[in-house]
Amino acid sequence: MNSSINRRSFLGTSTLIGAGMAAAPLFAGTINQDTKKVKVGLIGCGGRGRGALGDFKQACSVLGIEVEVTATGDAFKEAAEGVGKGNGVPAERCFGGFDAYKKVIATDCDFVLNATPPAFRPLHLDAAVEAGKHCFIEKPVAVDPVGVRAVIATGEKAKAKGLAIVAGTQRRHQAGYLRNKALIEAGAIGQIKGGVVQWNGTVPWIKKRNAGESEASYMARNWLNFTEMSGDHIVEQHVHNLDVAVWFLGKLPVSAIGFGGRARRETGNMFDFFSIDLDFGDGVHIHSQCRQISGTYQGVGEFFTGTEGNCYGGGKLTGKQVQIAEIKVDHDNGQVQEHIDMIRSVMAGKPLNEAKSIAESTLVAIMGRISAYTGDIVRTRDLLEDAKSPYFNLTCTPTALDFESGSVKMPAEVPPVPGH
Ligand SMILES: NC(=O)c1ccc[n+]([C@@H]2O[C@H](COP(=O)([O-])OP(=O)(O)OC[C@H]3O[C@@H](n4cnc5c(N)ncnc54)[C@H](O)[C@@H]3O)[C@@H](O)[C@H]2O)c1
Repeated sequence: MNSSINRRSFLGTSTLIGAGMAAAPLFAGTINQDTKKVKVGLIGCGGRGRGALGDFKQACSVLGIEVEVTATGDAFKEAAEGVGKGNGVPAERCFGGFDAYKKVIATDCDFVLNATPPAFRPLHLDAAVEAGKHCFIEKPVAVDPVGVRAVIATGEKAKAKGLAIVAGTQRRHQAGYLRNKALIEAGAIGQIKGGVVQWNGTVPWIKKRNAGESEASYMARNWLNFTEMSGDHIVEQHVHNLDVAVWFLGKLPVSAIGFGGRARRETGNMFDFFSIDLDFGDGVHIHSQCRQISGTYQGVGEFFTGTEGNCYGGGKLTGKQVQIAEIKVDHDNGQVQEHIDMIRSVMAGKPLNEAKSIAESTLVAIMGRISAYTGDIVRTRDLLEDAKSPYFNLTCTPTALDFESGSVKMPAEVPPVPGH
């Protein structure tokens, strides 16, 4: 904790309210202005859902706000009940099923935390924004270009309604990354000429199909190994590093050409390694590399080289001396800080909206995946603008709506083969 100034100024406001004196309302925006309590609902009660809820509560504690968890929802009722129980949610508001999100959103929560598999994000986010909720959305936010464009559109809708959308790209809320971004903007490493972004790790987990288990249940449980659910690991995991590249360079790549394959994965239909060249134009290339194979070299990070120096993600930066404003954060953990930033932005009536940035980073990852799966060079405009491109309307099926309507057809558990 090192931003006592922000905390003090907030506490100052609440003291005035406590003393019954005329004071600025706590929440300038859509939340009841007299309340010192926020209400939150959680959709997706797995590892990150539990984590995000804990981070949200910690953020409220830093800001001196009470929290009530109104509801939990998960494809599996036991998961919703498990998290609900530990957070004071009455059993009748712990919802199960693929429509559980609607029931969570229908409660009187101010914020909705979305931590389902990525395939569901565009649909669930839009429903939450339609209902006037501020949203935290885990990354990535889609698995196909159609979903990416939907999230961008929902982001615009949220802007018009004065709603916050903050994404689980925690690096954007960490002091080290914020500092290096500011230094780069101030010219510390000159013009970025190239770089490498990597997530080389292990297979996080696999889940085998139970005897007699439905295709929908198996895909929802083993989502991390199906492209239709996760986007493949270049999207699901490596999006963090791609997001840093797009953020630091301040623009999207023009195109991607790459390859990948599968050597070890035991279930699902994804690749387990990718190597992608991202062409940012003007002779600037970023090499994107990711692998999920246990027993191999492990490394996660970002490196950028410029005309005047070098930068390692949120760490070491060498280059010219430049002046930047002091970087202040309240919390060392970016996953708590992102919630603090979200809630504080709502309190100030200036809701943060990260929908476009996370949607675009998700798009870059999807572009790399399509290139590796097909062998084609894929341009950003193929996915964002050119309706004639064969990839513009690419839709991964089964879709979120197929799960809801009970019409899931599981794809074969084999990876794609590039070439026509
Ligand atoms: N920001 C980060 O560092 C970070 C870290 C881990 C995971 N994540 C992201 O968080 C999300 C969740 O990952 P996780 O690790 O918690 O996975 P998980 O498998 O532990 O949890 C996902 C939960 O969603 C539930 N679910 C599946 N379909 C659903 C639906 N249609 N409606 C409601 N619930 C549904 C599952 O039953 C499960 O309980 C993913 O997008 C992942 O990429 C982000």
